[in-house]
Amino acid sequence: MLRIGMLTSGGDCQALNAAMRGVVKGLTAKSADVEIYGFKDGYKGLIYSNFSMLTSKDFSGILTVGGTILGTSRQPFKLMREPDKDGLDKVAAMKHTYHKLNLDCLVVLGGNGTHKTANLLREEGLNVITLPKTIDNDLWGTDMTFGFQSAVDIATNTIDCIHTTATSHSRVFIVEIMGHRVGWVALHAGIAGGADIILLPEIPYDLDVISEAIENRTKAGKHFTIIAVAEGAISKEDAKLSKKEYKEKLKKRKYPSIAYELAEQIQKKTDQEVRITVPGHMQRGGTPCPYDRVLSTRFGAAAAELILNKEYGYMVGIQNGEIVKVPLSEVAGKLKTVDPDSQIIKEAKLTGISFGNK
Ligand code: F6P
Repeated sequence: MLRIGMLTSGGDCQALNAAMRGVVKGLTAKSADVEIYGFKDGYKGLIYSNFSMLTSKDFSGILTVGGTILGTSRQPFKLMREPDKDGLDKVAAMKHTYHKLNLDCLVVLGGNGTHKTANLLREEGLNVITLPKTIDNDLWGTDMTFGFQSAVDIATNTIDCIHTTATSHSRVFIVEIMGHRVGWVALHAGIAGGADIILLPEIPYDLDVISEAIENRTKAGKHFTIIAVAEGAISKEDAKLSKKEYKEKLKKRKYPSIAYELAEQIQKKTDQEVRITVPGHMQRGGTPCPYDRVLSTRFGAAAAELILNKEYGYMVGIQNGEIVKVPLSEVAGKLKTVDPDSQIIKEAKLTGISFGNK
């Protein structure tokens, strides 16, 4: 008898259900004797022993369904070692639930923070296997996370729609794309959607360079400019501040997000009309694209194989097209950011895209 616990943690994304389905299909194809415990709302379910027993039927018909059938929540890693409001030791509680249910392995689907806690549980002696989910594609150790391509599709579609209306008006359009710490979605959707300017957290921007790029387009007879800006894009001045100083500054920011701040500054500097579009959580919604369905199914099947071989303490990932297992100890706490000197940035610049820097 195999007893598997499963949870999805952090912000959701497309293909979480597809990945869990892959795990369960992979396990039940080889062993009829599998019990699955689905924890509700991520680590919260493990801490407070909130779970339901699931069968393979529960994972049927969910390949194309967005969201997560288990629910999810954000449980910050930095608070994991701190007692909850009733004084409960969260780590001890998670271990207790795991042992009470006599689990063979815990399958965790999540992003960066989730992986830190998964590694903590591994260090505490639990058998853990993880799958890399996030639209941000910022997990170290895998070329691709599931959710990313689906989000890029939606963000690209947003820019495509803006493009058609942009041709009718002489305006600057700003599309704000998800990604606080990394700009992978903004970079890919920006290139795919033909944005003229792409602003990423990894490449601090200079407002003068942005204005110059807009004015150069106007001089060249192009009457609109599309800017794809990642949520976490930062000016070269703000990039010089310490993390603490910048956080304080953001708290006092009068704008709801970067797009609004930029809009006001660009309007002042260029005297052009500016419009803002924020697709927001739409980028994490809807059905997973075919690429994500394939990737998450492969990840799920590979995770099942590791479990059946009793190989624990790994994240399943993909490197150069091959499915790989990466030790959790290597993944935890590392961020995969966009390298400003990478080929893709150079190529984008060659096609005339401005990244708001010199
Ligand atoms: O990490 C995924 C992500 O969608 C980020 O791109 C975004 O900045 C953040 O989550 C939004 O978080 P929340 O859903 O908690 O508002």
